[in-house]
Amino acid sequence: MELTYLGHSCVLLKGKKTVLVDPFSPELEIPPSPDIVAVTHGHADHMGSAVALKRPTVAINEVAKYLKSKGIPAEGMNIGGTILVEGVTFHMVQAIHSSWIEEAGIGCNGGGAAGFVIGMEGRRVYHAGDTALFSDMKLIGELCHPDVALLPIGGRFTMGPEEAMIAARYIGAPLVIPIHYDTWPVIRQDPKQFRTALERTTDIRVRILSPGEKLTI
Ligand code: NI
Ligand code: MN
Repeated sequence: MELTYLGHSCVLLKGKKTVLVDPFSPELEIPPSPDIVAVTHGHADHMGSAVALKRPTVAINEVAKYLKSKGIPAEGMNIGGTILVEGVTFHMVQAIHSSWIEEAGIGCNGGGAAGFVIGMEGRRVYHAGDTALFSDMKLIGELCHPDVALLPIGGRFTMGPEEAMIAARYIGAPLVIPIHYDTWPVIRQDPKQFRTALERTTDIRVRILSPGEKLTI
């Protein structure tokens, strides 16, 4: 499977299908026609162009309901559930965060926030979405054994590097990719410091990807 980081929280997974997670990037064009879109929660920096893409979209029930009202073929699900869409597995997991859908200055409750463990071609990718650290990340490791964990490190709206180090240990994925940092000054972080600290104290490897950079997993 090929993983492309598009900046912020946006990731494209390419296998037998293409899966675009959180279609928002201030740096790069959003790929126009992925097979499946997955949205972790209703905030604009994650929902992004989900409506404009008009692709089958996996999201928590409340976000899916909103997307359906816009004519998007959304697949609603909820935390703890697993669904199969075009041969790709989506397991929705907890995220400690909020969710709000805003359109033209009017907002509605987006239900909860979530993360995904996405399975394709025998590989599993955990995209944590926006979240604080929580100890049940151990369960995600125990249950899903992800090969890669995409973890927010920006702080302020999510966990920062210190918490993400503990998260990485709880999850136990051999590879961690930091996300959701440096997009704006308020979430400025040093990913190299995070990498050095985590690699010095564990067997976990950290790969820092620049927007547009690819990785085969
Ligand atoms: Ni958010
Ligand atoms: Mn966010």
